[in-house]
Amino acid sequence: MTVPSIRTRKKDGKTEQPLVMLTAYTMRMAQLLDPHCEMLLVGDSLGQVIYGLPSTVPVTMEMMCAHGAAVVRGSWHALVAVDMPFGSYEGSPEQAFASASRILKESGCAAVKLEGGEAMAPTIDFLTKRGIPVIGHVGLTPQAVNVLGGYGARGKSDAEARKIVGDAKAVADAGAFCVVIEGVMENIADQVTDAIAVPTIGIGASANCDGQVLVTEDMLGLFERTPRFVKRYDDLATRIGDAAAAYRKEVLGRAFPTEEQTYRPKA
Ligand code: KIV
Ligand code: NA
Repeated sequence: MTVPSIRTRKKDGKTEQPLVMLTAYTMRMAQLLDPHCEMLLVGDSLGQVIYGLPSTVPVTMEMMCAHGAAVVRGSWHALVAVDMPFGSYEGSPEQAFASASRILKESGCAAVKLEGGEAMAPTIDFLTKRGIPVIGHVGLTPQAVNVLGGYGARGKSDAEARKIVGDAKAVADAGAFCVVIEGVMENIADQVTDAIAVPTIGIGASANCDGQVLVTEDMLGLFERTPRFVKRYDDLATRIGDAAAAYRKEVLGRAFPTEEQTYRPKA
């Protein structure tokens, strides 16, 4: 998958086959998900999901570069995009270019994603004109949790709805090749999808988006947080707990290891 092949999936405002995106943070998970996805996102959600941080705000460039490289090593079909962490791009287009180029060089990924609307449009323009494909992210932008005051759905007032639609247009006009739209009322997601020429990738943004994304650990039932918009396709937390309990029982009962798992000199 390439940036043009993602962008042109939407033709004359329509996307026949929706784009499938999931998050991945590790090589092995990337290998397993890659055949099923057009895009893999190394999301800064890794801050909460694998580092136990309270939000995405403390996530570092080092984390994103290291996990980005691991995911690239596990992917061959999907386009890998890496989130720009909070504080690495908002200062100026030049700061964003320095950070984004480092992410591309160190991880080998094909694109970056950054949060924000109109205020980030000049930065998106700056990056795309200098060879760095950018995915936009509007609506609920988790890095702004300290301003938003929480993770509730956005666009409940008319003014907020208009702002989100304007933000999506601004990042698309600035050159983003697709736009993640998170945690918004269905009517806003519809308006955004109608208003911009590039694909919208929804998360908590209803079914009419040009694609969907979920945090893989949420979808697998592996993380305790379950926002309303997550569908659990498995319950791996229970299955992992059961496996660990079975292992413990066999170790305590000296039922593991058996002969099969034991090295002995050949008779
Ligand atoms: O960090 C992340 O995982 C994301 C997606 C949920 C869109 O930004
Ligand atoms: Na993110």
